Amino acid sequence: MKVPFLDLKREYAELRGEILPALDRVCRDAAFVQGPEVEAFEREFADFCGAKHCIALSNGTAALHLGLLALGVQPGDEVITTPNTFIATAEAITYCGARPVFVDIDPSTANLDPGQIENAVTARTRAILPVHLYGRPADMNPIREIAARHGIRVLEDAAQAHGARYRQQRVGRLGDAAAFSFYPTKNLAAYGEAGALTTDDDRIAGFARIARSHGQTARYEHEFVGYNYRMPGLQGAVLRVKLRRLYAWTERRREIACEYRRLLEGAPLQIPADDSRDECVYHQFVIYTGNRAGLAAQLAERGIETAVHYPKPLHVQPAYLSLGFPRGTFPNAERACERVLSLPVHPGLTPEQVAYVGNSVKEILGTT
Ligand SMILES: Cc1ncc(COP(=O)(O)O)c(C=O)c1O
Repeated sequence: MKVPFLDLKREYAELRGEILPALDRVCRDAAFVQGPEVEAFEREFADFCGAKHCIALSNGTAALHLGLLALGVQPGDEVITTPNTFIATAEAITYCGARPVFVDIDPSTANLDPGQIENAVTARTRAILPVHLYGRPADMNPIREIAARHGIRVLEDAAQAHGARYRQQRVGRLGDAAAFSFYPTKNLAAYGEAGALTTDDDRIAGFARIARSHGQTARYEHEFVGYNYRMPGLQGAVLRVKLRRLYAWTERRREIACEYRRLLEGAPLQIPADDSRDECVYHQFVIYTGNRAGLAAQLAERGIETAVHYPKPLHVQPAYLSLGFPRGTFPNAERACERVLSLPVHPGLTPEQVAYVGNSVKEILGTT
């Protein structure tokens, strides 16, 4: 049996009948940049998140960048975030001329450890940037409390967490603003690059709408130096079709995760904990094992693809060595990156494939 890590070709075959007419609408209108499909997607995604505004953008990194700028992050500021994430989280901070200040993760969730954040706050801290890693909401209540106590802002990195819930509230309005990615591998994915910022704050939304299009307030009137961060019309059309499927796809991801947990009971590995008050959307289903390379190789021999998210924490990436956080500074993130392995969890998996993956992992690792 073959188990691909992702199966975007199968997904397209299923959606083709809806996607092609949607793309055709955009082409017939020649609405290639923003336009009616993107505007309709903005309304639908804002409703989905329960947020007042959605600003469609060119990708998730642009959403993080504009989100931080909208929160007033400036050169010389510090922004607190996790080293256990994709590099875009930290890059957006760097683009503002600010300094990423990493804080270690809670090993049981792989998200920022709120208990360690306050120690990292200085007079220069302008914002906290928690990541809802793997689709599991970060612990937002203590994060918001710390931010309120110190008069700093909160931007959610929700790139992996479309539709996740924290204490019954969807991500996307748990901080001052939230950044989403619709990169093709995400739970809600475009056919190319795309992203969005959501917020309840009119001022943040107003800034982002102008900043995404060269600081333009009226045709060829440029209020400030902005960016070309607009979403193509074709991506808006694809995202609208897929958004209608997202509830069902998320449900399926959660079922698969539940089945993996059942199948892997008693196996010598760890799985991040789900808080029963929250809803993880399982962008990734990860396990931790001391024998990652061996396990991945044996799974590959059985036709099962796996991936590693992520093999190195950001503080030891060459790009961020100059921040001066030597190996050993964030032991939980470092240990997680050495041991983490992502199993296939996409909604197209059959029950037989899920059982095959779960049983294979258990057979290879044995039981405790
Ligand atoms: C946690 C996280 N933040 C930010 C991004 C950046 O999004 P994009 O690739 O759309 O720029 C990604 C995805 O790639 C991500 O996984």
